[in-house]
Amino acid sequence: MSTLGIPHLAPELESALVAGLGEVEEFLVSHVEGEYPFITEASRHLALAGGKRLRPLLTLLSSQFGKGISEDVIKAAVVVELTHLATLYHDDVMDEAPLRRGVPSANARWDNTIAILTGDFLFAKASDLLADLGPEAVRIQARTFERLVTGQIMETVGGEGDQLAHYLKVVADKTGSLIATSARFGSMIGGASPEVVDVLTSFGEQIGVAFQLADDVIDIASESGVSGKTPGTDLREGVPTLVTLHVMSSTNPADSQLKSLLSKPIEDEQVIKEVLAALRAHPALEVSRNQLHEYSNGAKKSLDSLPDGPAKAALVSLCDAIIERSA
Ligand code: IPE
Ligand code: IPE
Ligand code: MG
Ligand code: MG
Repeated sequence: MSTLGIPHLAPELESALVAGLGEVEEFLVSHVEGEYPFITEASRHLALAGGKRLRPLLTLLSSQFGKGISEDVIKAAVVVELTHLATLYHDDVMDEAPLRRGVPSANARWDNTIAILTGDFLFAKASDLLADLGPEAVRIQARTFERLVTGQIMETVGGEGDQLAHYLKVVADKTGSLIATSARFGSMIGGASPEVVDVLTSFGEQIGVAFQLADDVIDIASESGVSGKTPGTDLREGVPTLVTLHVMSSTNPADSQLKSLLSKPIEDEQVIKEVLAALRAHPALEVSRNQLHEYSNGAKKSLDSLPDGPAKAALVSLCDAIIERSA
C-alpha cells in the first residue's frame, strides 16, 4: 500500500502526488483563515482532523492526462476539498452525526448554528478561490453543487416507486457529482483533450457512486475506529441505504421483524446494536458488496480508451482500494 492509500503506485508519480497534496494541504489550511480566531478555529476543525483527501487526489491524478500539476490544478483541488468539507459540516447537522473524521462533528463540538454557518463560510472561501479559475469552472461547480444539494434534498424527502432506483439516483447526485467534477477539473485545467476530460468525468461519477455504496456498507459493517464515524448513523436517522433497501425488498418471512424495525428511525441504542448485528449477518450485506464491485469494475472499464501508464494504473488501483475498504 502506498502512502496515499492506492495499492499500486509508480514511485515517480507517488512523489509528484505527495508533493502536490502537501501544497493542497498548506493552501487549504491557510485559505480558511477568518477575521476572528473563532472562525479560523471552527473552519479548520475538520480540515485538521484528517480525511482521505480522495477528491484532491483525483484532481491531481487526472491532471496527469494533460500537463500535470500546476498552480491552477492545486487551486482546483483545494476548491473540491473545501466544497466537500462544507457539505460535511451541513451533512452532520442533517444526520445528527456526533463524530466525523474521528473527532466530534462541528454540531457536537459547538452547535447546529455554528456548524451551518461554518459550512457557509467554507463555501464562500471555495467560491473565492474558484473565481481565479474562470467562468467555465465557476459554472461547472455551480451545476455540480446543484446536483449535490438535489441529492441531499431527495434523500430527505424520499422517492416514489422503486426505492433502490431512487437511492442510486440520490447517490449519483449527492456524491458522484463532486467526485466527477474533481476528475473533470484536474483533466480540464491540466489541459487534457475534451475526449479525455469526458472519460475522466464519467470515471469520477462511477467511482463516486461505488465509493458512496462502500460508505453505506461501512456504516453497517465497521466499528467507528475504522471509519472515524459512528456506525449505524443511517439507522438512527431512518435513512434507507443499499443494505437496508435490499433487506426491505426481501420476501423471506424471517425478515419481517427486521423490516419493521428498519421502516422508521431507531432511537433505542440497544435496538441499534441488535439491528446492526442482524444486518452484519444478513445476505443483503454480501449482495451490497457485490453491487459495489460492479460499479467499481464499471469505473475501471470506462478507462479503457485512456493511454496506459502510471496514472491510469493508479486509477485502476484506486477502484480496488475502494472495494478493499468495505471488505
Ligand atoms: C464522506 O466522504 C461523505 C461521502 C460522500 C461518502 P469521505 O469518505 O471522502 O470523507 P473524508 O473526506 O475521508 O472524511
Ligand atoms: C454524505 O452523505 C454526502 C454529502 C455530504 C454530500 P452521507 O450522510 O451518506 O455520508 P456520511 O456517512 O455522513 O459521511
Ligand atoms: Mg451523513
Ligand atoms: Mg447524509
